[in-house]
Amino acid sequence: MESVKIPEKVKMRVKDLRSQINYHDYRYYILDDPEISDAEYDRLMRALQEIEKKYPSLLTPDSPTQRVGKTPPLKTFDPVPHTVPMLSLGNAFDRKEVEEWVERVKKGLGTREDIELVVEPKLDGCAVELVYEEGLFVRGSTRGDGMTGEDVTWNLKMLRDIPQRLKGISIPDYLEVRGEVYIKVEKFKELNSGQAKRGEKLFANPRNAAAGSLRQLDPKVTASRPLNIFFYDIGEVRKAEFKSQIEMLAALKALGLPTIERVRLCRNLKEIFQYYDELAEAREELPLEVDGIVIKVNRFDLRKRLGTRTREPRWAVAYKFPPREETTRILEIDVQVGRTGVLTPVAKLEPVRIGGVTVSSATLHNEDQMNEKDIRVGDYVIVRRAGDVIPEVVKPLPSRRTGKEKKFRMPEECPSCKGLVVRVEGEVARRCLNISCPAQVERGIKHFASRGAMDIKGLGSKLIEQLLKREILKDVGDLYSLKKEQLIGLERMADKSARNIIEAIKASKNRPLSRIIYALGIRHVGEHVAEVLAEEFGTIEALEEARLERLEEIDEVGPIAAKTVYGFFHDERNLNLLKKLRAGGVIFPVRKKVPRGKLHELTFCFTGILSSMSRDEARGRIKKLGGKVSSSVSKKTDYLVVGSNPGSKLRKAERLGLKVINEEEFLKLIEGKAE
Ligand code: IVH
Repeated sequence: MESVKIPEKVKMRVKDLRSQINYHDYRYYILDDPEISDAEYDRLMRALQEIEKKYPSLLTPDSPTQRVGKTPPLKTFDPVPHTVPMLSLGNAFDRKEVEEWVERVKKGLGTREDIELVVEPKLDGCAVELVYEEGLFVRGSTRGDGMTGEDVTWNLKMLRDIPQRLKGISIPDYLEVRGEVYIKVEKFKELNSGQAKRGEKLFANPRNAAAGSLRQLDPKVTASRPLNIFFYDIGEVRKAEFKSQIEMLAALKALGLPTIERVRLCRNLKEIFQYYDELAEAREELPLEVDGIVIKVNRFDLRKRLGTRTREPRWAVAYKFPPREETTRILEIDVQVGRTGVLTPVAKLEPVRIGGVTVSSATLHNEDQMNEKDIRVGDYVIVRRAGDVIPEVVKPLPSRRTGKEKKFRMPEECPSCKGLVVRVEGEVARRCLNISCPAQVERGIKHFASRGAMDIKGLGSKLIEQLLKREILKDVGDLYSLKKEQLIGLERMADKSARNIIEAIKASKNRPLSRIIYALGIRHVGEHVAEVLAEEFGTIEALEEARLERLEEIDEVGPIAAKTVYGFFHDERNLNLLKKLRAGGVIFPVRKKVPRGKLHELTFCFTGILSSMSRDEARGRIKKLGGKVSSSVSKKTDYLVVGSNPGSKLRKAERLGLKVINEEEFLKLIEGKAE
């Protein structure tokens, strides 16, 4: 066959891509300090794969696309060869690619029938292998380059999740189990704030924190880190045989090993996509980072027939969620003054799309974090946008600096009112102390008018700004004496829109007590605490007169919130504001005691997958009936609802002697007639 002439430009590109990938592998795997987002890395890898596909003669055995894993283990840990290589997973980037993968599997097996596929969450942690000999944990290693890992036996012994000895009656003579060491998102945040307090390096994400914590030379450090593990695979096994993924997971579980949760057996693409959508929706609420799903052929005999390619098995594929992190550049840093006077540095970014949304600004949280991370104007940075949370700057990429980047200093005076800015002891933020600061007043009014508060439609930032500038508004009390004529003539304000706003203000006079309390913008009083206060006191007068001790007694009101509430109602200016609101016609309705729902005071917890509704729906139903839902099992849990493939909560609930019910019993409970 005649060989295709490969353009010089393509050869150069391949060389460049390979060296970039190698460099980023080194940053990621050896230094634990990546400088590009996963999405960017994936793009590089994809680009290289595509060229190699088009020009197969360019493919060399040392191309990064051909490697099983990535980089060699650290020198400081002893090498541990893996009996069976620890492979990577190929990626499917969209539904079509999943479809194509399924087709390839069927073709490989010479069948047109649907085959059993198992779907699991793709856990974003650090892969490890553990060896049990005659039931005893003897050795543990990281994945390393897939062929040889690092000996982290002592560090793994520090994980409370890992049994030193397997339990049960059918213990294999020899068992290699594989899984993912991870840190729960909540624990990750705590860990990082501790690191910040001690002036130590912050971890970019839970995965880096998990990997960094596991590869510590001193196991005591590992022991102090909140690591967990889930198992999802095996290596070599002697004197035991598993026929499928589902059977294997059940067996591991019976041996006392924590196995991956939310596993589901699917028969077709529709079921796979359904699972993907469900998990993507639940993603923000999961206690750990999940970055996609893994689809695996269930039966081991079929896996064997399909075999593996160089670095990935043909019997499994990863289908990732849209990335939540991207790389972009900081154009400038602005300082925003919040409702309570807190100054927040905000990065203005070169716009970048993350998960379908264009992001052009991201919070830097506070001065300490900005300095700690050494974020400068002009820096390339990793930006993260997850769920409804405000986008944040995760870290800078110092190696991309040109020398023109500038450090940013927080202002000594308020950017809005030029007033004094102080750093209150024990707080990370600088604060403007002028309560009539226009920026604070503007934010306060915006909060007052927001959806969860008085819900005044059409009263946006632009309009509030203008009203403040012309001194038509000084505080929220002035809203209720506002006349249509005062609005007409303002920017984008014609007769109709002015009338609509006056109507919206009028409609807001009648909001429930809890919303008014929230709207007042008392520090530390969010929607939930406002609800609790309304329920507890029934009227605004009773709340005004509440003694501090009484406020402190309330379960769901913390001591700090109790103090700020008390302080708020003992400040003349606020009492005057309440008077003004009353005079303007705001009704402070009496909160009627709501009839107690049939699940009043009962706490539910879920494990496994429900077939008749999503967890969100179940949660909503329970709350409607006055019950509570918690994410973990404790003595306070009244019912554990068990779906298919339950996780470790079931064992815990049984140990605690809690009431365990199945889905059918749960449905009866919520659907039965209200008492
Ligand atoms: S199965 C060849 N199952 O993904 C089969 N891996 O990209 C590979 N991972 O190194 C293991 N969640 O660290 C498997 N449910 C899951 C997984 C999972 C996360 C990781 C694992 C592996 C990497 C491959």
